[in-house]
Amino acid sequence: MQVFHHISSLRAELAKARREGKRIGFVPTMGNLHNAHLALVQQARRSCDVVVASIFVNRLQFGLNEDWDKYPRTLAADAAKLEGVNCDFLFCPEETEMYPNGMDEQTRVIVPAMTDVLCGASRPGHFEGVTTVVTKLFNIVQPDEAVFGIKDFQQLAVIRRMVEDLCMPVQISAGEIYREDDGLALSSRNGFITEDERPRVSQLNHTLNWVGEQIKRGRRDFLALQDEGRTQIEEVGFKVDYLEICNSRTLKPAADDDREMTVLGAMYTEGARLIDNISLEID
Ligand code: PAF
Repeated sequence: MQVFHHISSLRAELAKARREGKRIGFVPTMGNLHNAHLALVQQARRSCDVVVASIFVNRLQFGLNEDWDKYPRTLAADAAKLEGVNCDFLFCPEETEMYPNGMDEQTRVIVPAMTDVLCGASRPGHFEGVTTVVTKLFNIVQPDEAVFGIKDFQQLAVIRRMVEDLCMPVQISAGEIYREDDGLALSSRNGFITEDERPRVSQLNHTLNWVGEQIKRGRRDFLALQDEGRTQIEEVGFKVDYLEICNSRTLKPAADDDREMTVLGAMYTEGARLIDNISLEID
């Protein structure tokens, strides 16, 4: 695997691959890689000739009171893991390479749809930071296909919308959620869960599944269901950020006759904010 810290050298190498007619796959990450990230690389590997991963802890998508400074940086271990799944190129730029004019004056990409609800409501500016850095990364790598995890369901929806609205020539693919045996979704932030909390955090996933089951059995009193779900999580000691039943495509509150719904949840542990979701197709 070749490692690049600079845009120019990565571009030069990718230009060669492109001239040879190779299909380029891209997996953007913030590092601290786990099996779900590696599965995204493997997914890109199956449909592309050259796979690029990036590791960049993008300060622009973190709020002032969020965990940018304590976000785990594990570059050497991450690089070894990427080698293990035959990633071809790793791009890990410094902040000055990505934001040479500083962040305050950085041109932004804003997707107005879907970004002020759910995670966007409690993390103002977060999605603007994501869409801005993803646009920059797409311009640097110019991938034919980019793979994002479904765990960040809202992020995936927002990126799909951005790509559509801005006519970006990249296919967006979704990679499944990887879970621990008790249902906890793999996340780089799971390292912040304390030993005492660990047996209880899978309640988020259990509750989302429970809500999904209730919908499949015909319940359509969504507001009451959401309240009951929130209570289940609070009862095991966590503060709920949101628990909402949404239309899978628009992320608006689900309507009774929607066929594709997603139940999304976010809750706070002592040191982390965990998110998860499950999608349902109603016949
Ligand atoms: O999902 C992430 O890890 C980040 O939001 C992304 C897409 C790499 C942008 O910084």
